[in-house]
Amino acid sequence: MSSTVEQIVSRPQIRETQCFIGGKWLPAASGKVFDTIHPATEEVIAQVAEGDKEDVDLAVEAARDQFDGGEWSRLNARERGRLMYQLADAIEAESEELAALETFDNGKPISDARGDISLVADCLHYYAGWADKIQGDTIPINGEYLCYTRREPVGVVGQIIPWNFPALMAAWKWGPALAAGCTIVMKPAEQTPLTCLRMARIAQNVGIPDGVINVIPGYGPTAGAAIVKHPGIDKIAFTGELATAKIIQREAAETMKRMTFELGGKSPNVVFADADLDVAAEGAHFALYFNQGQCCCAGSRLFVEEKVHDEFVDRLIEKNKGRRLGDPFDPQTEQGPQVDQAQFDKIMQYVDYGKQDGAQCVSGGQRFGDQGYFVEPTLFAGVSDDMRIARDEIFGPVLSVLKFNDVDELVRRANDTNFGLAAAVWTRDITKAHRFAAQVRAGTVWVNCYDVFDAAAPFGGFQQSGLGRELGEAGLAAYTESKTVTVSLG
Ligand code: NAI
Ligand code: MG
Repeated sequence: MSSTVEQIVSRPQIRETQCFIGGKWLPAASGKVFDTIHPATEEVIAQVAEGDKEDVDLAVEAARDQFDGGEWSRLNARERGRLMYQLADAIEAESEELAALETFDNGKPISDARGDISLVADCLHYYAGWADKIQGDTIPINGEYLCYTRREPVGVVGQIIPWNFPALMAAWKWGPALAAGCTIVMKPAEQTPLTCLRMARIAQNVGIPDGVINVIPGYGPTAGAAIVKHPGIDKIAFTGELATAKIIQREAAETMKRMTFELGGKSPNVVFADADLDVAAEGAHFALYFNQGQCCCAGSRLFVEEKVHDEFVDRLIEKNKGRRLGDPFDPQTEQGPQVDQAQFDKIMQYVDYGKQDGAQCVSGGQRFGDQGYFVEPTLFAGVSDDMRIARDEIFGPVLSVLKFNDVDELVRRANDTNFGLAAAVWTRDITKAHRFAAQVRAGTVWVNCYDVFDAAAPFGGFQQSGLGRELGEAGLAAYTESKTVTVSLG
């Protein structure tokens, strides 16, 4: 063993466990708390305030006050940007602590958590730069008029996020909201509230005015639903499951809220025989197993050209054998546990479905170890398009390999889904690559790479993978309203 091998990271202290409303840390009005656990050991690590409607009401009041006439509404745009840069810098300065907290609450390996936190800071830096660059147009209309548009913040935004990238999803949602001048009521996922609460503390420390960011930990059907229904909230931004999004869409329709959704997928990842197979195998492995397979854009339908299929499957099996599962606080660990028992059970159910439907489980398929929600990296070969493991989002380390020969047929099969979040293609032939990128129905296409994200590049889904886009200028647009002003010059 080399002496440079990094030490196991120590467990962080948990400080913030209450609701954050108008700059105050408060218990839930009901007095209720819920447990949050460390998924690698199943131990309870903290009890967190279980927010509900009453707490949401207070948070909306605080957010409305700041938006409708408070300090935040009067701050000029450049100053808003400066505060955002300070927030990003402060998060960067506390990144080790935040990463450890993310690993503790979510179970993801510390090396991945560090990557997430650096993306958090990057996203906030990026949107800080937008704050003073949101501008309208002057429009030549008929008659003697001056006509111009103003882009104004949409208002108080309700943001509901999932547990797979807790801190990063908070940043994706805070970034454009703060840049645009909105105020926020956020509900983190009940599985992983801790990093979002810590980030709220950091925002308070750098001087973001009280009431601009409010955080209500709690459950979906209670705290989440209260946000969705609240008449004082102008927009909902949601990331999570399609079934939840449909409920939200119905509930939010009552008050005509603006809505953006980032939902799941069953993304096709296509390997042509002419690809650099070393790079493609590494990429296909990463595309699915990264983050324990808990990625909305996971490359979960792997189409491999028949000529190289068997060889490619062998390479994937080898990679799975070498994957290091274990203590997520160990910097050498590559795969941690799933987030909770429910996700673990769902995944094991799909492993059964795969077997029942006649696919061959050529790697993994079992629980790993005897504590924590670990699932072995699992590979199914001989998968056909209609099997449940080829159609449904599993959200775990289960990869389905499908064979193809004919390219036209491939595009039809790749598009035979109600989802449309991401897709990828591996080939040395640029014509094939661009043709596939044009024909596949997905919001993001990667060519000879996977999971390349950048705060400046829009991300979101076609079809039932979402509504609207996050990140980049497109992500900002969802947080502004356009106002047309016409002035008589007569
Ligand atoms: P979920 O959609 O229930 O949870 C996401 C967020 O929505 C959480 O904060 C939750 O508390 C909230 N929520 C739940 N019901 C709500 C309601 N009625 N009103 C308002 N907010 C509500 O997802 P869940 O149950 O955690 O995971 C189930 C499946 O969803 C996963 O197996 C995976 O397939 C998919 N998923 C997709 C994600 C993505 O990034 N696209 C993230 C998380 C889950
Ligand atoms: Mg749910």
